[in-house]
Amino acid sequence: MYIWRKTIEEAGTFKKERIIKSRQGPSIDVHGSQIQILNFCANNYLGLSSHPEVIEAGKKALDSHGAGLSSVRFICGTMDIHKELEDKLARFHGKEDCILYISCFDANTGLFEQLLNEHDAVLSDELNHASIIDGIRLCKAKRYRYKHVDMEDLEKQLQESQKYEHRLIATDGVFSMDGKVTPLDQICDLALKHNALVYIDECHATGFFGETGRGTEEYFQKKTGKDIHVDIICSTLGKAVGGASGGYTCGSKELVSMLRQRSRPYLFSNSCPPPIVACASKALDIIMSDPSLPGKVHSNTVLFRNKMAEAGFSLSGDPDHPICPVMLGDAKLASAFADEMLERGIYVIGFSYPVVPKGKARIRVQISAAHTEEEITRCVDAFVAIGRKFNVIQ
Ligand SMILES: Cc1ncc(COP(=O)(O)O)c(C=O)c1O
Repeated sequence: MYIWRKTIEEAGTFKKERIIKSRQGPSIDVHGSQIQILNFCANNYLGLSSHPEVIEAGKKALDSHGAGLSSVRFICGTMDIHKELEDKLARFHGKEDCILYISCFDANTGLFEQLLNEHDAVLSDELNHASIIDGIRLCKAKRYRYKHVDMEDLEKQLQESQKYEHRLIATDGVFSMDGKVTPLDQICDLALKHNALVYIDECHATGFFGETGRGTEEYFQKKTGKDIHVDIICSTLGKAVGGASGGYTCGSKELVSMLRQRSRPYLFSNSCPPPIVACASKALDIIMSDPSLPGKVHSNTVLFRNKMAEAGFSLSGDPDHPICPVMLGDAKLASAFADEMLERGIYVIGFSYPVVPKGKARIRVQISAAHTEEEITRCVDAFVAIGRKFNVIQ
């Protein structure tokens, strides 16, 4: 009966949850620890989860708009602040319209089923996020899985799928386990050549990646000098944009109108609570008014990556992205390494199979604009001491 537990424990991949007793931030209180812990595993890329103005906005909305709507959007759950945030997000991404969900998981599971039918095809990167995979599973379109960020394979599948009426290329903008950025410039070229649409999940890009935080499109616009635009963006408010929860889909007016009529997680699940909407809205105001924030995440990322490389660690992922996977290989080593890091006051998490491929266990470090240079140095020092102990580095 408990074979699942034995199997996971023997593989050294049982996930324990650590209890945090303070606000989310670079420095946190962890249950059972006597010291303040430096947090290097949150998606709090801009440090806005506990920003005083964000908290204040949430409190005010609680007073003015209450705790929640007791309703889905189309019955009596749409408020002025929902519409304002949708408008703001559409403008931020340069798209015609936006629809809010309670999470990006919902945005993804509510999209493909409505957009594609049995006459269509979806071409999906094999390492896409679970919510994209689940969303695609719900739709009747023919599924093609192309090799991870492999443009030759994508093109081959675009050629093979020509008979389908509509084709959609679906990919994470940035892959969360690797911090690897999808080659969006090439994907958009292929889409143009083969008359396909492009969808990206921007959960690990929105707000902080690209020069002003517009995400993967902006990152490649700068890099290539080309005008790069996708058709559909899904993203989250639960990471850089306030960090509470909430997700959304941006695209054409037609797409968003159709989703409001048909998307099941939107139609059959409660509206986003007002304090969360207000927190996200304020976070977005801060991002739009302070263009230095993405630059700070980037310079902190470069600092961390350089120090770790100098110490002899192997890091994967894109050098420009704040997801910095420290590659260890063995699952048990990754787990033991993370436990020792916590004893030294650094909170990081070891990832292993099935979250990442077998033999590719790692510690995923996530850098934030809120980390100081001194905090990053402390984190690297702890890696070096434990890395030597476990013979990962000399
Ligand atoms: C790439 C990606 N897509 C979707 C999600 C789901 O986002 P949310 O937490 O808003 O449901 C996540 C969250 O981990 C993610 O990393």
